[in-house]
Parts: sequence; C-alpha cells; structure tokens
Amino acid sequence: MVFRTLAALLILCLSIGSSVALAITDEALLSNPEQIPALLADEVIAFKEVPNPHWRIDACVACHLGGENNNKMPSLRSNDYNGLCGNCHDPSLVAEYIHAVDIEPPDEFLDRMPDEFMEALERSGGVLTCIVCHDLPLQCDKESFQQAEINPLFFRGGPYSARTDLCFNCHDPEDYERYNPHDQVSDEGELDTEQCFFCHNVTPNRSSVRSIEDVTFNVAEDLKKLCTGCHPYRPHPGGSWFGATGNKGDGGPNHIKIPPEKIRKRLEIMVAKSETIMPREPETGSIFCATCHNPHERGVQFLRKADIGADGYKRLRRGKFEICLVCHEM
Ligand code: HEC
Ligand code: HEC
Ligand code: HEC
Ligand code: HEC
Ligand code: HEC
Ligand code: HEC
Ligand code: HEC
Ligand code: HEC
Repeated sequence: MVFRTLAALLILCLSIGSSVALAITDEALLSNPEQIPALLADEVIAFKEVPNPHWRIDACVACHLGGENNNKMPSLRSNDYNGLCGNCHDPSLVAEYIHAVDIEPPDEFLDRMPDEFMEALERSGGVLTCIVCHDLPLQCDKESFQQAEINPLFFRGGPYSARTDLCFNCHDPEDYERYNPHDQVSDEGELDTEQCFFCHNVTPNRSSVRSIEDVTFNVAEDLKKLCTGCHPYRPHPGGSWFGATGNKGDGGPNHIKIPPEKIRKRLEIMVAKSETIMPREPETGSIFCATCHNPHERGVQFLRKADIGADGYKRLRRGKFEICLVCHEM
C-alpha cells in the first residue's frame, strides 16, 4: 500500500535526520525494523537489502531499545519473539522449510527437554518461538562471536555435529526412523511415498521420469536446503567433514558452486561415458549435494544409472576416489 510505504519512509527520514532524507540506509533500517515488512511488501526494498544484524556489535538496536546496558539485558523492542524476528524473517517462510512455531509441546516433549530449552520455552509463554532453538545471546555478546564459525545459526545447545541432535532435545530419538528420509521402502518392499515429501512436493512418477528436470522439489531454489536441515553444511570433500577445530580452512574447498567451463566439460564427458548420473541444479547449473550423493533407497529408482550409489558407501554415486576424477584431472 502506498500509504504504508509513505508512512514508513517518513519515519525513516525523521529518524535519520532530514539532511539525508529519502536515503534508506542500513542504519535507518536497523533502527526501524518495524517498518521493514511494509517496505518489503511494497517492494521499496528487496530482501537482500535488509541488513543482517547478527554477530556484530553495532546492530543491537535491530532487536533492543536503549543499547548496551552494563551486561543487563537492554529491553527488547518486542516481547513477541516471533514478531521481533518476523520484522525481517517472514514466519510463514520459516515454517515452510524449517519448523512451525506457536505450538505447545506435548508433555512427553517437556519431560525430555533440557533445562535450557525449558527456560526458553517459559520465556516464550509456553509455546515454541524462534528463541527456543536459536540462542540469541550467542550472537549478542562479542565474547562469543568466534562461535559464528562452528555454530553459524546460533543453535541452542550447539554446535551439533548432526542436525538431528538438535531435534532430539524435544523429539524422541526412538522416532529416529521417521526422520531418516533415505528410508523409502518398507520391510515388505513397498514404496513409502510419505517419505518422498521430505524433498519432493509431488511424488515423482518413476516410470515416466527421466532426469532431475522431470521432478519438483519443496524448496524453490538452492537445493542444498533439502539436506542441510539435517546435515549441517560443511565445505567438503577434500577436507574433513566435521572440521575438528571449526576453522574455516578445515572443512576443505567449497564444492557447491557453478563449475568453471573446463570442469563442466570434463564432467559432462565423463558422465556420458559412465553408468551413473551426476545431476546439477537445473536452474543454476551449480553442483549440489545430490551431484555426488544419491539420497534415495536402493531400488526406488527404476532407471539403473539413477539407482547407483543408493545405500552405498556415504551414498556416493562413484567410488570415494573415482568420484574426484569425474571432475578433476589427476
Ligand atoms: C537479532 C536480534 C538481536 C540482536 C541483533 C541483539 N540481540 Fe541481544 N538479545 C536478543 C534476544 C531475543 C534476547 C533474549 C533471548 C532470550 O530470552 O533467550 C537477547 C538477550 C540479550 C542479553 C541478555 C543475555 C543473557 O545472557 O541473558 C544481552 C546482555 C543482550 N541481548 C545484549 C545485546 C547487545 C549488546 C547486542 C549488540 C551487540 C545485542 N544484544 C544484539 C536479540 C538480539
Ligand atoms: C533487521 C532485520 C533482522 C532481524 C530483526 C532479525 N534478522 Fe535474522 N537475519 C537477517 C538477515 C538479513 C539475515 C541474512 C539472511 C541471508 O543472508 O539470507 C539473517 C540471518 C539469520 C539466521 C541465519 C544466520 C546468518 O547469520 O545468516 C538466523 C538463524 C536468523 N537470522 C535468526 C533470527 C532470529 C531468531 C531473529 C529474532 C530474534 C532474527 N533473526 C531477527 C535479518 C534480521
Ligand atoms: C524447532 C527448532 C527451530 C525453531 C523453533 C526455529 N528454527 Fe530457525 N532453524 C532451525 C533449523 C534446524 C535450521 C536449519 C535449517 C537448514 O539449514 O536448512 C534453522 C534455520 C533458520 C534460518 C536460516 C535459514 C537459511 O536458509 O539459512 C533462519 C533465518 C531461521 N532459522 C529463523 C528462524 C525464525 C525467525 C524462527 C521463528 C519464527 C525460527 N527460525 C524458529 C530450527 C528452528
Ligand atoms: C524445542 C523443541 C523442538 C525441537 C528442538 C524440534 N522440534 Fe519438531 N516439533 C516440536 C513440537 C512441539 C512439535 C509439535 C508436536 C506435536 O504437536 O505433537 C514439533 C513437530 C515437528 C514435526 C511435525 C510432525 C510431527 O507431528 O512430529 C516435524 C516433522 C518436526 N517437528 C521435525 C523436527 C526436526 C527435523 C527438528 C530438528 C531440526 C525438530 N523438529 C526440532 C518441537 C521441537
Ligand atoms: C532426501 C531428499 C529426497 C527424498 C526423500 C526423495 N528424493 Fe527423489 N530426488 C531427490 C533429489 C535431490 C533428486 C535429484 C537428483 C537425482 O536425480 O537423483 C531426486 C530425483 C528423483 C527422481 C529422478 C531420478 C533421475 O535422475 O532419473 C526420481 C524418479 C525420484 N527422485 C523419486 C523419488 C521417490 C519415489 C521418492 C520417495 C520414495 C523420493 N524420490 C524421495 C531428493 C529426494
Ligand atoms: C530429515 C533428515 C534428513 C534429511 C533432510 C536428509 N538426510 Fe541424509 N541422513 C539422515 C539420517 C538420519 C542419516 C543416517 C541414516 C542412514 O545412513 O541411512 C542420513 C545419512 C546420509 C548420508 C550417509 C552418511 C554416512 O555417514 O554414511 C548421506 C551422504 C546423506 N544422508 C546425504 C543426504 C543428502 C544429499 C540429502 C539431501 C538430498 C539428505 N541426506 C537429506 C537424515 C537426513
Ligand atoms: C563433489 C562431491 C560432493 C558434494 C558436492 C557433496 N559431497 Fe558429501 N561427501 C563427498 C565425499 C567424497 C564424502 C566422503 C568423504 C570420506 O569418506 O572421506 C562425503 C561425505 C558426506 C557425508 C558423510 C559425513 C561423514 O561422517 O563421513 C555427508 C552426511 C555428506 N557428505 C553430506 C553432504 C551434503 C549435505 C552436501 C551438500 C551440502 C554434500 N555432501 C555435498 C562428496 C560430496
Ligand atoms: C562434480 C564435480 C566435482 C567433483 C566430483 C569433485 N570436485 Fe573438487 N572441485 C570442483 C569444482 C567445480 C571446484 C572449484 C574449482 C574452481 O572454483 O575453480 C573444485 C575444487 C576442488 C579443490 C580446490 C582446489 C582447486 O582445484 O580449485 C579441491 C582440493 C578439490 N576440488 C578436491 C576434490 C576431491 C578430493 C574430490 C573427490 C573426493 C573432488 N574434488 C570431487 C568440482 C568437483
């Protein structure tokens, strides 16, 4: 709405002083986060222009009023946590691929939850909010900023080596099977189509589908998100997966990228000659997790070359050493 935007601009201009009127600076947005949803809705700014306030000393004002206050918590802009975060993160989008909020955990969950989670739940009025899983003080206090490398999403109780460990603070590890989306065929040999919905928004028709181009996913872009909810992202291979020290160099080179011409050509030639597939993201041409790993259970794929790697060592589509040679010359 035009009126909403005008009002938002007016407040922004007033707050930054009339001399720089009309310039929507990062400072202006950070100190008026309540205006951001309207500015986004009216396309005055795009999401990538919303400043990131996390892990920095000069953006406390995005969430607090009154600035630094002798280690006492400066008051929050709003005690409605989901709303506080929702100024910049659309809660419906968060729910779509991460986790629903505003739910009251059943007793069975309450019995399992560590004190730290219980206390955060109490501060949230007994329902799930962003702060139950995301531990904001980690990104508030410069003493803890070095944790950004090992726990970039500031998970409560983190860092976790497997993201499902975060889930088990509340969910029953005995339901582990339920969270293993690679388990796609029942003991009786029947296809468990429920499991397809972890990644696909429509169950692929195995008889007619010929490649990644013919299936759809429940994330619109950046297909690594299908995996990183459970497997925290580490740059690899060519380094250690878990990164013993958490130092950036420790995890190996970043392979989630659009391959340069030379590598792309080699990849295409090698794949054409082979008995397997190594699909890239259809939209961008980027390498992603399923380029190297087959997320399906053995037998789900009717096309033989798409079945290779299912349930094999680390679900790799080629041998641990052979796979490097698909893209790299020795
Ligand atoms: C993205 C929003 C956000 C930003 C940015 C932010 N905080 Fe916080 N901060 C919070 C929330 C939310 C809480 C309360 C968390 C809770 O109750 O679990 C909090 C808690 C705190 C606390 C209490 C810590 C504790 O252990 O109880 C202090 C102190 C604090 N913030 C200071 C700061 C300072 C200083 C900055 C800037 C360097 C800052 N915050 C930036 C959201 C933020
Ligand atoms: C002033 C706007 C703003 C507010 C308020 C805000 N965020 Fe963010 N947040 C961002 C931006 C921008 C990013 C970076 C997004 C990207 O790069 O895709 C981000 C990233 C994140 C990330 C990913 C870690 C990272 O650094 O990229 C998490 C987790 C997160 N926010 C949680 C929260 C929570 C929980 C709250 C509420 C306490 C909150 N945010 C409040 C703007 C905000
Ligand atoms: C039950 C736990 C839980 C709750 C509650 C939760 N999150 Fe998260 N959040 C996660 C997990 C797990 C991920 C990592 C998902 C991934 O990497 O794909 C995540 C990732 C994120 C990211 C980064 C997304 C990206 O693409 O990088 C943002 C931003 C975020 N959460 C914001 C929020 C906000 C805002 C809320 C409250 C409305 C919230 N979260 C509530 C568990 C939670
Ligand atoms: C802080 C507690 C908490 C954490 C941590 C948590 N969840 Fe949940 N989750 C809940 C609650 C509460 C519900 C609603 C359960 C109900 O009403 O029976 C729920 C529901 C779900 C559901 C809906 C299906 C169902 O009925 O079980 C899925 C799927 C789910 N969570 C997955 C995850 C995953 C994956 C993680 C880890 C990334 C995770 N959760 C972490 C509290 C949590
Ligand atoms: C953990 C995520 C995940 C789950 C769960 C999943 N898929 Fe997939 N699926 C993918 C990805 C990623 C691709 C693209 C890579 C590829 O082609 O193998 C894909 C591709 C496919 C293809 C095309 C294969 C080809 O290239 O010829 C078929 C068919 C398919 N899936 C069927 C299914 C069925 C049926 C289920 C449920 C039993 C399922 N998938 C469950 C992630 C998943
Ligand atoms: C809902 C959680 C979840 C999602 C989403 C998920 N996985 Fe998994 N994954 C698991 C669990 C649990 C295991 C361990 C059980 C097993 O090995 O079968 C596993 C195992 C694996 C392994 C083998 C690890 C080893 O040490 O042998 C690979 C590789 C893998 N997943 C890749 C992927 C890829 C690629 C995607 C995305 C297309 C994906 N996963 C999505 C939960 C998940
Ligand atoms: C270029 C190929 C390639 C890409 C892309 C890739 N991986 Fe891997 N991944 C590997 C190889 C090779 C290994 C085995 C390393 C070993 O055993 O030393 C591995 C190991 C793993 C493991 C097992 C970790 C363990 O404990 O050994 C998981 C889980 C995994 N990858 C998930 C992912 C996810 C999630 C993505 C996307 C974000 C991804 N991989 C992208 C090649 C790849
Ligand atoms: C699907 C193709 C593909 C596979 C498979 C692959 N890589 Fe890569 N690799 C790349 C691309 C693309 C780059 C980035 C090159 C660039 O940006 O110039 C890269 C970069 C690297 C680098 C950084 C140095 C350099 O050459 O730029 C190392 C080290 C590396 N890969 C090791 C490995 C190892 C070890 C394996 C097997 C476990 C492997 N790669 C498998 C595509 C691949």
